[in-house]
Amino acid sequence: MIKAKYPVEKFLQLQTPFYYYDMDILRQTLQEVNRQVQKRNYVVHYAVKANANPVLLREIKNAGFGADCVSGGEINAAIKAGFPKEKIVFAGVGKADWEINLALDQDIFCFNVESIPEMEVINQLAAAKNKTASIALRINPNVNAHTHQYITTGLNENKFGINLSDLDTVLDLLPQLKNLKLIGIHAHIGSQITDMTSFQSLCVRINEIQQYFFQRHIMLEHINVGGGLGINYEHPNHFPIPDFENYFNVFSEHLNLQPHQTLHFELGRAIVAHCGSLISKVLYVKQGATKKFVILDAGFTDLIRPALYQAYHRIENLTSDLPEEEYDVVGPICESSDTFAKNYSLNGTRRGDLVALRSAGAYGEIMASQYNLRSLPKAYTSDEISAL
Ligand code: LLP
Repeated sequence: MIKAKYPVEKFLQLQTPFYYYDMDILRQTLQEVNRQVQKRNYVVHYAVKANANPVLLREIKNAGFGADCVSGGEINAAIKAGFPKEKIVFAGVGKADWEINLALDQDIFCFNVESIPEMEVINQLAAAKNKTASIALRINPNVNAHTHQYITTGLNENKFGINLSDLDTVLDLLPQLKNLKLIGIHAHIGSQITDMTSFQSLCVRINEIQQYFFQRHIMLEHINVGGGLGINYEHPNHFPIPDFENYFNVFSEHLNLQPHQTLHFELGRAIVAHCGSLISKVLYVKQGATKKFVILDAGFTDLIRPALYQAYHRIENLTSDLPEEEYDVVGPICESSDTFAKNYSLNGTRRGDLVALRSAGAYGEIMASQYNLRSLPKAYTSDEISAL
């Protein structure tokens, strides 16, 4: 068990709330991913949407990963962090013209295209620059990810990808789009997936789709299966590093890859979630009519996952050893949904205590807002804090 180590004395000197990134955990995670993918010759593009903190991006780039981007802003951030252009993929149902032009100017590896109108626009913009855009068809595989409905993406009812029934039309049209080069297919079924049978189903579906392409004598060099590997939010101390071996094994065992094909992944959460914590100070402990509230200086503006997806984040009081008591842990924002946890056992808590909201490295800092005109929190890495 790797217990997160918090430099609490140093934390006490900092303005709360803030994000704290434990670089040891991030580095160990990156090492483990690399150990697993190198055995299998897989390629991982880090999903920048999970966390675009420049220090983290640089660390991930230095570990040799590519970048999966969903906006011009993310492409710029990836390039600034030094990700090689030939390792950048660009997805999204609504790519604006300026974003497509940016990606064309940067000669990125591949556009994951999601519709016929989008293909036509990329073709037109590429032609204007006398370039050929490499594309992978993002296919909606209609596979259930068995996760929260807001983060399910691969069902027919979702807005993402090209429906299987439209593939004929797409392939009939492609030869006319002279400035596009089809290099592969892409699918992403959702996020925070902990049931590996969902990924097995994805493999089975991709095998079927591959048959369809073989029948049309189309050779695909690249198969991209997206991201989505979930983490253990309940026990970040026991399982600080997700079971990447088990995850990649699913694909080695169930996906029929041809010798010339490369398999790509777009992992976000599994890489950065556990290294991050949101550190907050207790403003008040308030006795309500039926329960006790711990009121933090962090709110859903700083970590929106509990409010938006009813997500669980482990909470620890870093400065109390008192016997545990039950509290509702809430933020200061003027909405009842600004609640991190209900009936939660914490060590006896007082004003001024510091708490850590765990596993906040993914979809924490990047989803922060300034609602109620709150300031965006700062972020510190363990490297920076130990140099203080
Ligand atoms: N690739 C594509 C095309 C995606 O849409 C996503 C996530 C990923 C890769 C990375 O998925 P991951 O490995 O991180 O699961 N804000 C939500 C999660 C939204 C995920 C959106 N797409 C949350 O906090 O749970």
